[in-house]
Amino acid sequence: MNEANKSLILNNPFIPEPARIVRTYYLTEDVKFFQVRIAKMEKALSFDYRPGQFAMISVLGAGEAPFSISSTPSRPGLLEFCIRKTGVVTNAIFRLKENDLIGLRGPYGNGFPIEKMINKDVLIVMGGLGAAPLRSVLLYSLDNRDLFGRVILLHGAKRPAEMIFREEFFSLKDRDDLECLLAVDGDDTGEWKEKIGVVTTLFPHLKEIEPSNTYAIVCGPPVMYKFVLKELVNLDIPKHQILMTLERRMKCGVGKCGHCAIDYIYTCLDGPVFTYWNVIHMRELI
Ligand SMILES: Cc1cc2nc3c(=O)[nH]c(=O)nc-3n(C[C@H](O)[C@H](O)[C@H](O)COP(=O)(O)OP(=O)(O)OC[C@H]3O[C@@H](n4cnc5c(N)ncnc54)[C@H](O)[C@@H]3O)c2cc1C
Ligand code: FES
Repeated sequence: MNEANKSLILNNPFIPEPARIVRTYYLTEDVKFFQVRIAKMEKALSFDYRPGQFAMISVLGAGEAPFSISSTPSRPGLLEFCIRKTGVVTNAIFRLKENDLIGLRGPYGNGFPIEKMINKDVLIVMGGLGAAPLRSVLLYSLDNRDLFGRVILLHGAKRPAEMIFREEFFSLKDRDDLECLLAVDGDDTGEWKEKIGVVTTLFPHLKEIEPSNTYAIVCGPPVMYKFVLKELVNLDIPKHQILMTLERRMKCGVGKCGHCAIDYIYTCLDGPVFTYWNVIHMRELI
């Protein structure tokens, strides 16, 4: 192969890297956890990303789709995803077993501005599948605990069985360097000992927030944003310190196809993390 062709292949952003599924199990009835390792060890170890970024995952014969990276870059070598069965690609991913291969390319997107969040308090508000991208920033801040002020987690789900990473977050409740409040809309088990109500019912239980020193991070179902954003604004957290990770239909993930464009913004490049300021100025975002 001549040098020009070699360089085309090496620099082609659409060529996926083979990655092997190391572990997979159900988190809820329709959401599965996947732990994967890029097959080439040196690539697995050098795959550097920031919390909030995503990867394109492909299955031969089915296609590819974007998924948030749920693991933290502070634990290199393995990548974790949390995937809901919705259509063609996710059905194909669900059929895969441990040791099977997928295609993976990335990381893509802007991710969270970790440098700006250093020494600040971090308030993470997640609902439903919003736990997928926000688990990364949560684990990152816990692994680098001395870099941040308070770390606060508010997590809401419809029912106990639908709370993604339920056991993991319950085990974190014992930490005295994390304030962790969990809620379900309704308890059909009779055994739920945490709060009952939508995620906003957790706000009155928060210890006093120092708004100028706080970064709030939100991800959840569309209906959640309106109510959570209202609470965060009521707390006086500056709008540029309210961050959210948003989903748009994407094809290429690298700013080439225009599928994710809103006006001049390519959400695959300029997002998926946006500030409340961005959202106010671009009403189509949520
Ligand atoms: C940055 C980013 C991060 C994401 N992270 C995650 C994650 O961590 N976990 C996760 O489970 N999902 C995540 N998603 C969503 C995931 O990429 C989509 O659900 C993806 O479409 C699933 O592919 P599929 O082929 O299985 O489903 P599709 O076959 O694409 O169908 C999914 C749903 O979309 C509908 N649909 C299909 N085409 C269109 C269209 N053109 N317009 C409107 N609706 C359509 C279908 O009817 C169906 O209800 C993320 C998306 C983005 C952009
Ligand atoms: S997904 Fe192709 S330009 Fe954003």
